[in-house]
Amino acid sequence: MKKKKLEIQYKELASREELSKEDFELLKKSEEARERAYSPYSKFKVGAALMLSNRKIVTGNNQENASFPVGLCAERVALFAAHSQFPDEKINTLVITASGSEKVLETPISPCGSCRQVFTEFEKEQGAPMRIILASGKGKILVFEEADTLLPLSFFSNQLNE
Ligand code: THU
Repeated sequence: MKKKKLEIQYKELASREELSKEDFELLKKSEEARERAYSPYSKFKVGAALMLSNRKIVTGNNQENASFPVGLCAERVALFAAHSQFPDEKINTLVITASGSEKVLETPISPCGSCRQVFTEFEKEQGAPMRIILASGKGKILVFEEADTLLPLSFFSNQLNE
């Protein structure tokens, strides 16, 4: 039996001051979107903002429902909105922020598996890296240069025909 190890590569920034001007602007947009979240059930607000190759910014936030499983994460709201309006543009960078009901979080939240599956398919489809920045809270920020790294061994459409 061969043992194999998978590595996730990312950069850790000590604070938002270390972001480039463009990434910082996107972070602000993500936080603004976060404040418009519809999350009366979890009271957990998540915001997402992405920069397209045509320089347009598309935002999203989590949308919940009394029928709980119907809701959608902020990341997918933003990604699907962008992909539906600008199907031929590449998604350069996606910034995700979150806050709890009481306070600012200490650490960035990590996107759920379903969102990672969407990142990885869109990244493959656009043939260019999609940067993911996790920036909730006051402290450190995680920067993933390729979304793919967040979902190793992911399922792709080519497997449907095998
Ligand atoms: N949520 C997101 O929007 N993104 C994530 O990455 C994790 C979780 C939302 C879903 C739900 O509305 C609330 O946060 C609590 O899970």
